Amino acid sequence: MRTYDCIAKKRDGEELTEEEIHYLISSYVAGDIPDYQMAAFLMAVYFQGMTDKETSIMTQEVARSGDMVDLSAIQGIKVDKHSTGGVGDKTSMIVAPIAAACGLKVAKMSGRGLGHTGGTVDKLEAIPGFRTTLTMEEFVDVVNRTGLSIVGQSGNLAPADKKMYALRDVTATVDSIPLIAVSIMGKKLAAGDDCILLDVKTGSGAFMKTLEGSVELAKTMVSIGGAAGKKTAALITNMDIPLGNYIGNALEVAEAVEVLKGGGPSDLREVCLHLAANMLELADKGNFAECMETARKTLEDGSAFSKFLEMVEAQGGDISCIRDTSRLPFAPLRHEVRARKEGYIAHMDTQACGTASVLLGAGRETKESLLDYGAGIILKKKTGDYVKEGDVLAEFLASEEKRFPAAEEKFHSALTIAAERPEKEKLILGKVSANCTEIF
Ligand code: URA
Repeated sequence: MRTYDCIAKKRDGEELTEEEIHYLISSYVAGDIPDYQMAAFLMAVYFQGMTDKETSIMTQEVARSGDMVDLSAIQGIKVDKHSTGGVGDKTSMIVAPIAAACGLKVAKMSGRGLGHTGGTVDKLEAIPGFRTTLTMEEFVDVVNRTGLSIVGQSGNLAPADKKMYALRDVTATVDSIPLIAVSIMGKKLAAGDDCILLDVKTGSGAFMKTLEGSVELAKTMVSIGGAAGKKTAALITNMDIPLGNYIGNALEVAEAVEVLKGGGPSDLREVCLHLAANMLELADKGNFAECMETARKTLEDGSAFSKFLEMVEAQGGDISCIRDTSRLPFAPLRHEVRARKEGYIAHMDTQACGTASVLLGAGRETKESLLDYGAGIILKKKTGDYVKEGDVLAEFLASEEKRFPAAEEKFHSALTIAAERPEKEKLILGKVSANCTEIF
């Protein structure tokens, strides 16, 4: 088989065979196909797309390109939840303990921040001592003992995705629906859970900016999960506004704890409850209304918070920082950002808000950048709020004074201030399951 012929076939819009896709992925991982040929192939996919059959086969190949995690030693229904990435998205730290408090087993492999978006592994590492690298035996043991564990992806999980993602990142081929679906579902299938709930973010802070694109991505991923024998569903949730009020690693742990203790901002709590209820429904724990009620109770009675404490302790984290989040390592310098004019906040470009927090040190500018776990943004006003000139819009946290000016400019550029009050946007925009797509 010749790589050239596979590239030409895709360039011309033809469907590749199973053998051709197997050849491309296995040879690329083995180092037998150079980056420039894979880049040409990815660009051909970007323009021509892939059929459902091709997407499903490629996902299986990516999943099988490295270790397939065996979770059979975990008793019970193993449920995963995966977000396509957003700003202020600390839902995994809330939803996993809720699901565990309801009796599910959550064995979760999470990622690090990507571009302007945050990653759960980085957030958890803001807790002093918390280990996100466990052996497979430790991982299974923590899930069996506490009901949940969140770790980073093992070194050899879906290596084809690792290589292709790095190439896509520098060849303008990230925002392709089949390639995103293959990338996310390849890792999910390798991670070995029984049920997968996807949180497909949509809007200015998401990789998919439009509802149509997000629905198509959700349908593609749900169909891949179903074809692989996993119960899979997707919620489409709003990422046209940061989720909650805190952006940044230690800050997001603190806000997640507020929700787990029964408080916290209502948008974050509602999105988390919807995600948790959908995980319970996928695992056959009742109809949606019953699952919502069960999930809500775990925040009221403290059982979800106890699960989070158990996981943090089991993974070496300092639980005194969870009981009292003021002990988390927040950056020492604070800076207030004030409104430059009066009016309603009509829109927040959420990607720019994420970039402002990266500029403060909360994300990576390059692969080698060190994170400042304590840096970030506390939002005091959000879309729909009325502000007068000079009102505090946000408080920035950083470890170096020099970080504030560029972050402040970026943050101001994210805001549209207008005379008209904007319409309130929905938090949950749709749901895609195996046999039905609902737009709310
Ligand atoms: N997250 C992933 O893991 N892969 C993508 O392609 C996009 C977001």
